Order: sequence, then structure tokens, then C-alpha cells
Amino acid sequence: KNPPPANIVIFGGKGDLAWRKLIPAFYNLYIGGFLPKNFAIYGVHYEKQDEKWYESYMLEGINTFSRSGKAKPKEWKAFAQNLYYFEGDFTADDTFRRLGETLDANDKKWRNRAVRLFYYSVSPKFIDDISIGLSKYDLAANVSLDRIVVEKPFGSDLQSAKDLNKLLLAKFKEKQIYRIDHYLGKETVQNLMAFRFANIFFESLWNHNYIEHVQITVAENIGVGSRGNYYETAGALRDMIQNHLFQLLCVTAMEPPVTTDAEEIRNKKVDVLKAVRPFNKDNIQSNAIRGQYGEGKVNGKTQQAYRKEKNVNPKSDVETYAALKLYIDNWRWQGVPFYLRTGKSLQKASSVIAIQFKQVPLCVFKPNAIPDRRPNQLIISIQPEMETTLVFQAKEPGVEMKIKPVEMDFTYHDNYDTAVPEAYETLLLDVLEGDAALFMRADQVEQAWKVVMPVIDNWAATTEKFPNYNAGSWGPKAADELIKADGFDWILLP
Ligand code: BG6
Repeated sequence: KNPPPANIVIFGGKGDLAWRKLIPAFYNLYIGGFLPKNFAIYGVHYEKQDEKWYESYMLEGINTFSRSGKAKPKEWKAFAQNLYYFEGDFTADDTFRRLGETLDANDKKWRNRAVRLFYYSVSPKFIDDISIGLSKYDLAANVSLDRIVVEKPFGSDLQSAKDLNKLLLAKFKEKQIYRIDHYLGKETVQNLMAFRFANIFFESLWNHNYIEHVQITVAENIGVGSRGNYYETAGALRDMIQNHLFQLLCVTAMEPPVTTDAEEIRNKKVDVLKAVRPFNKDNIQSNAIRGQYGEGKVNGKTQQAYRKEKNVNPKSDVETYAALKLYIDNWRWQGVPFYLRTGKSLQKASSVIAIQFKQVPLCVFKPNAIPDRRPNQLIISIQPEMETTLVFQAKEPGVEMKIKPVEMDFTYHDNYDTAVPEAYETLLLDVLEGDAALFMRADQVEQAWKVVMPVIDNWAATTEKFPNYNAGSWGPKAADELIKADGFDWILLP
């Protein structure tokens, strides 16, 4: 493979995301041999900075956060030759004029019009200025080579997401816009596609005839940490459910695509969101639960209450936990409840998709022969463990008929020696290669907002007694009651 040369421009090149994720990801792509021979990365930031300082700061980022550990001096040196600090105010014409000259000069030097990747790693308020600058100086005018990557949050409600789409689409074509959701780049999430659509046996059971309910849990054991400022404008529903958990929902529930083309995959995903039964004032109370953590112990360490966190209003009503019960009104999923939950400062970090199948139609064994009649479960653990477990009944060895649930495990750890790339590596490479299958299209983002809007509005208009769960627990009692009311329990990896 000989990928075309690439000019990579990171707006917010000194920011946290560039430091922790983007530069380490480009570095790993580089040492893995995935970047083209000719490439340049520009970190754009308004402050005056010394080039050497920038390099050593980015090296520190790699040494601290890269999955491949500390950079090797020789490899780092070779990589750093292509890394530049670019001083520039996002609101100044001059930034874009100079940027244009720089990129054109590279094209000339490389004797090839390079792919251009413009990464908006900035606060949403700068998206407008950057888009205006890029378009005014025709920096992203080549629809097939020039790409814009937009980070979350993509809007804070339906209207703002629509406005943002409108703004971007006034300057660029949809084909050029890559709305990133890093969950889609996770290895285990991508494997869900392989699991569902490269095997015959799961797909044939993957419907309301055999599946009783589905659960999606993304549990975090960390609090909001230093992100209080942002989190106060977001909350768990906006920060996690509308994007990450809905993406997991789409991959779990989508119809089989006909090809792996970006449009086909995205059509099938958006169909799921369109089929979600709308929340209304009669079902919100019972089907949407929110929580906020109070002080507690996580892993033996004291975690302060959310309201005590830095940059958080001491009377904040922002939720740090959200659980939803949904139905997907299509043929495949008629009557199957989907339970989604996510929260911060929970007992354990664990993200799983659990499929609980129906009971056998008739149990021919006496109750004492099968004391635990647990139905079949398929538990797909996304992180931190990367494994899939199938729970089924089996006879215990012995002269008597004694049946008990057992587990069949597939783990990455036991099956592969290869290192697992970070989500950003996969996604950035996809952008360089022009593959948008793992990125969100405008209509998908808007549809996801449409689903949560009634909940957002309802929660804004009403209050809950916060805090209502202790840090280190599994969230508010009401979330347990939500699922228990239907006769189920939350499932984690056994
Ligand atoms: C981010 C959220 O998008 O995802 C954070 O803003 C959250 O609040 C993070 O902690 C979780 O990502 P991951 O990859 O650690 O599961």
C-alpha cells in the first residue's frame, strides 16, 4: 500500500485531546507503517511557542499515554521531523492565509496534491470561525481529498446540532465531514459487526422470537475530575447516551447491511434510531432514570460528591448517571426492551452489551435437577476486559442429572498476540483513507438528539433529589427498580 501524502492540521494542537490521544495515535500509526512517506502534522494554537518546546511536550504526551509505551528515540526523531507547531489565532484571516501557503508548498515539494485532514479539536464556539477561514482561503476545496473531523460534543440539543450541521454544510460537502465518536473505533465495537454479520448462528437468533431483552452498560469508576466546567453543560445523557451508548445500540440492533460502504452502514444505523419508540410524558417518569453521585469510596479511595468537584455548582442538578428503557418499533425487535445505563463514580469500570435470550419453551427437567434456570446470555464485554461470554446450561458430571449454567469464553488475551490499536488510531487512519463508515452522518446525529429531547426537556423542567447514589455503588435505586419491575437484573461480565 502506498497511501497518498497527507497534510494534517490539528486546530487545538496544544490541547488535551491532541496531547493524550491524537498525537500518540498518529505516532503509533507512524511506527506501524500506516502513514504515507510524505506527511506533515501542524498543531495550531494561538500562543507563541517554541517549536522545540512543542516537540518535547508532545513527546511527554506519547510517553505518558501511548499504548505502545515510551517512544524509542530514533523513531520519535523521525516522526518529530514531520511535526510542527503552528502559531495562529482561529479567528484571524492571516492564520488561514499562512496555512494555505504552507500546505501548498508541501504539495509542491511532494509533487502531489496531498490529502488534507483538518481536525477540529476545539471548543464548539470556534467551529464557525475555522470553517469560515478554511473556506475563505479555499483550503478544503477538493471534495475528494479534503476532510474535516469534528469532535464531540456535536450540539447540546436537537436545535444546536441542526445549526451546527447547517453551518458545516454551508462550507463543506457531507462527504468531507467526519463526525467522530471514538466508541465506534473501539476494537470490540467493530468486532460486534464481525460477530453479527460474519457468522450464521447468532444472526438467526437475533430477533424478538429468541431474545428477551438487551442491556447496554457503560460504567465508569472515575468522577468528573477536572472536567467540571464542561460536564456542568452536559450530564450523562448528553455526554454518553446520545452518542456512545446510542452507537452501541445501533450496532447491536441494526439490520444486516448489504455492503460495508459508509452510506449503507449508516443507513442501517439511522433506521434503528428512527424506530425508537418516542418518549412521552406518560412514560418518561418510569423509563428514564437519572442520578448524581454523593461522596463514597471507590476502590477503597474516597471520592468526593459531584457537587463538591472543581468548577461544579454546589447545587448542581446535572446528572452523572442515566438509565433508559427503550423499545425499537420494527419487526425484528417488537416487544424487546433495551435497557441502557451509564454513570460516573460507579463501583467498577465495565462496559458490556448483554443479550438475554428467552427460556426454552418447556423445561423437561425437574426443578431440583436444574436449580438455576438462568436463560442463555451472550455477554459482550467492550472494556476493560475484551471478551465475549456465552452462558448456557450444562450437565454437571456425575451419576445424577444436575444441570447448571456454564460459560464459554472468547478473550482477546488468549486468542491474539497482536496489540490492540486505540480507537483514535483506527478512526484517524479511516479519515486518511476516506472511509466514513465509522463516522456519524448529519441525519444520524440529529435523529439521536430527537430521541433524547423529551427526556432532556423533562429533566430540565423537573428536579430530582440529588445526590441519590453513593460513589462506589451501582447507581440510584430507581435504576435497579427500572429493570427489576420487568423481572430482570442488570448483567455484568460473570
Ligand atoms: C467521553 C466522555 O466522550 O467518553 C467522558 O466525554 C467519558 O465523560 C469518556 O469518560 C469515556 O470514554 P472511554 O473510551 O474511556 O470509555
